[in-house]
Amino acid sequence: MKKALALILALVMVMSLAACGGNPSNEASKAPEGTGSSAPAESKTPEQPTGGDVANKDKPLVWFNRQPSNSSTGELDMTALNFNKDTYYVGFDANQGAELQGQMILDYITAHIDAIDRNGDGIIGYVLAIGDIGHNDSVARTRGVRKALTTGIEENGAIKSDAVGTNVDGSATAVQDGKLTINGKDYTVRELASQEMKNSAGATWDAATAGNAINTWTASFGDQIDIVASNNDGMGMAMFNAWSKANNVPTFGYDANADAVAAIADGYGGTISQHADVQAYLTLRVLRNALDGVDIDTGIGTADDAGNVLSDDVYRYDDSKRSYYALNVAVTAENYNDFMDATKPYAPVANQLSADSHPTKNVWLNIYNSADNFLSATYQPLLQNYDDLLNLKVEYIGGDGQTEANITNRLSNPSQYDAFAINMVKTDNAASYTGLLNQ
Ligand code: BGC
Ligand code: CA
Repeated sequence: MKKALALILALVMVMSLAACGGNPSNEASKAPEGTGSSAPAESKTPEQPTGGDVANKDKPLVWFNRQPSNSSTGELDMTALNFNKDTYYVGFDANQGAELQGQMILDYITAHIDAIDRNGDGIIGYVLAIGDIGHNDSVARTRGVRKALTTGIEENGAIKSDAVGTNVDGSATAVQDGKLTINGKDYTVRELASQEMKNSAGATWDAATAGNAINTWTASFGDQIDIVASNNDGMGMAMFNAWSKANNVPTFGYDANADAVAAIADGYGGTISQHADVQAYLTLRVLRNALDGVDIDTGIGTADDAGNVLSDDVYRYDDSKRSYYALNVAVTAENYNDFMDATKPYAPVANQLSADSHPTKNVWLNIYNSADNFLSATYQPLLQNYDDLLNLKVEYIGGDGQTEANITNRLSNPSQYDAFAINMVKTDNAASYTGLLNQ
């Protein structure tokens, strides 16, 4: 009896050792060196896929945050979005959010018109930090600001989204001097400078680059800058901390990251919540539903067995694009107190699923850049809250934001997982991932 027990124990040990040694994801969950980021706190290593022997190409797949699309034209990559019958995209409504950001800045100018022109030259001057000229969401935000401030120039039915470099004299060709009439008086608005914030290694939406840019700009024309606008809070906060806070210049971002929301008390002008709490839920929820083999609307538009349900004022689904879009909300001095906790699950969908009817499944998920403020400080912590509620064991992979291979290298054994959640470095590169699932 004792002998048999010892034998079994020994066998178990050998087996678990083998499982460890042969498991590439142990290596994979380590953060890339040199990015200054630490390994994801909650990396769980699956032993076996729980879903039987489903081919990798037939497993549920969700793209999130970067919609598969052509980075020059913005055209959606429908092949990637229709990879299999359980493929979806989860993001947010970029145009609605962009309009909101532009309107928020315009509202601020209107409300503060008597004090906005700091040097009294009759021109309302602003600078703009651009995240990634090849990212649909970034393009939409640049257009939203230019549209609201009437500085945009239309080309083929859309406002140009190129960076202008510096435009202190108003001669740039990608933008024009705008005109706002406020309280019966005309004002000129000028985009004094704009730049894609890409660092020398190639990382986009780069906060440190934005901090350097504002220092360069203000050194030569600081007194002309009345407003700082940014495609996101990571870059916005870098500029706020480097210059605008001390100079009382309103700075506007996007994402409603916790530090940016808190900074509204210190003069940060405002931000937009892209409802990351709804997006993170949807990202994992569509996988859960596909794995459970239930209607995709379960726990989304239709209440599930635990009472989780979303109302249609926080998201919309576009079936022709296989895409779920969260709706955006402006966060300003008036309402920022309601947005202080950026990583709290959204209450209507925060109910725990039962482990009996929704058994644990293994998910591979990557964050394209572990140094990205929004993804690492807001989105991933939310995912980590929802994975427990949805009984998903998620392996979090952090990329370097520069090369797709840095991430795809760590998807060397897709058979170990039941489903995949993918955040590409470049929106054109869906095939680098689907190619691995097709093998
Ligand atoms: C966020 C940015 C982020 C980017 C990464 C956007 O939705 O607003 O802050 O850098 O996603 O892809
Ligand atoms: Ca001025």
